[in-house]
Amino acid sequence: MSFDLTRALRPEVRALTAYHAGPGPSGRPVKLDANESPFLLGEAIRGELAAELAAALGSVELHRYPDPEARELKALLARELRVPAEQLLATNGSDEGIHLLLSAAVGPVLAPVPTFVMYELGARALARGFVGVPLMADFRFDLPGFLKGLEQARPTLVFLAWPNNPTGGLIEEEALEAILRACAGSVCHALVVVDEAYTEYSGRTVLSWLGRHPNLVILRTLSKIGLAGIRLGMLIAAPALVVEIDKIRPPYNVNALSQAAARVVLAYGEVVARHAATIVAERERILAALAELAGATAFPSRANFFLLRTARPGDRVFQGLLERGILVRNFSRAPYLADCLRVTVGTPEENDAFLAALRAVLEAER
Ligand SMILES: Cc1ncc(COP(=O)(O)O)c(C=O)c1O
Repeated sequence: MSFDLTRALRPEVRALTAYHAGPGPSGRPVKLDANESPFLLGEAIRGELAAELAAALGSVELHRYPDPEARELKALLARELRVPAEQLLATNGSDEGIHLLLSAAVGPVLAPVPTFVMYELGARALARGFVGVPLMADFRFDLPGFLKGLEQARPTLVFLAWPNNPTGGLIEEEALEAILRACAGSVCHALVVVDEAYTEYSGRTVLSWLGRHPNLVILRTLSKIGLAGIRLGMLIAAPALVVEIDKIRPPYNVNALSQAAARVVLAYGEVVARHAATIVAERERILAALAELAGATAFPSRANFFLLRTARPGDRVFQGLLERGILVRNFSRAPYLADCLRVTVGTPEENDAFLAALRAVLEAER
C-alpha cells in the first residue's frame, strides 16, 4: 500500500530542509560544535549539588503531570531576573519560545542574516513569510539597511539574536533602541524579539527596557550555561503579550524533571558566573592566538563561540579538524558564510587541542 503524503501535508512543510544540529559525534571528539558549556557544572556537581539534584529528582512524582504553570520554578526565575512573574513564561528551551511567537504572529518576519536558523525555518514552516536583511561583509550590523528592510517588508515580528549566532556580533544599544521605536508604529507595527541566549557571555541585557518598550520580547535559555540537557527557556515580555502567548503554549511544556532540576541548579548562580568568566577569558585567549595565525580570520565575538573564515576550503579544514579529534560546526556552504566554521569555546585543554589541530590542518593545506 502506498500513501500520497503530498495530499495530507502543507507544501510549506514539504519544501523545508530539516534543521540538523550537526552530525552526532562519532567516537569522542572534542565537542566544540553546539555552543554548549563545556563544564558539567564543574566542581559543584560532584559534591553538594549532585546530592541535592538526586534528592530533588528522586522525589518527583512521575505518575503525575507536572505543574502546568511551573509556578514554583517561575517564581524562582522571576526573582533571579528581577521581573514580575506575570512577565514570564517558562518554555521547552528558547526554541519553543521562538515557535510560540511565530505561531501567534501575523507575519511577515524580519531578521538580519546570517542568524540563528530557527527563526527562518519556523517562519517558513508556518507560512509567515521571512525576509532576511544581510549583515555587512564583515558581519557587523547594518542599521540603515535594516531600517530600510523594516520599511519595505513591514514585518509584525523581528528577531535579533543578541549576540548573534553564528557571527558572535552584538548590535549597538542605540541601534536596538532605534529598531524598537521604528517597530512601535513610526515605520511598522512589530514585536521585537531580543534573543539573549548568550547574555552570560556578553554581559549585556535589555531586561530593564521592558517598561519602556511594550513591543519588546526577551528570550533567555539555560542551554548555554551548562543545562542544555534539561531544555529550559524563558520568554519575558509585557504581561498582556504573555497572556496571549500562554494561550497557545502546550499545557505541560516544561516536564517535571526539568522543573525540579532547574529549581535546584538555580541556587548555584555563582558557579555559572565563574564558568562564564572562564569561557570569556578563554575566548579572548583563542582570538588573540588566531590573530597571529595565517590562513584563518576569526571575527570578534561576545558569545561563547566565534566564527572563523579559512583561506583554504572550509569543508577541508572542517574535515581535517575532525580527523584530529575536533568537532566544530561547518557553515562553509551556508549563504553568506562561505568557508566559515563556528567554534564553541571549550575548556582550556580543549581550546589548546583545537589551536594545535587548526595549526596542523592549515600547515597541511598550504
Ligand atoms: C540565538 C539562539 N537562540 C536560541 C537558541 C536555542 O536555544 P535552546 O536550547 O534554549 O532552545 C540558540 C541555540 O543555539 C541560539 O543560538
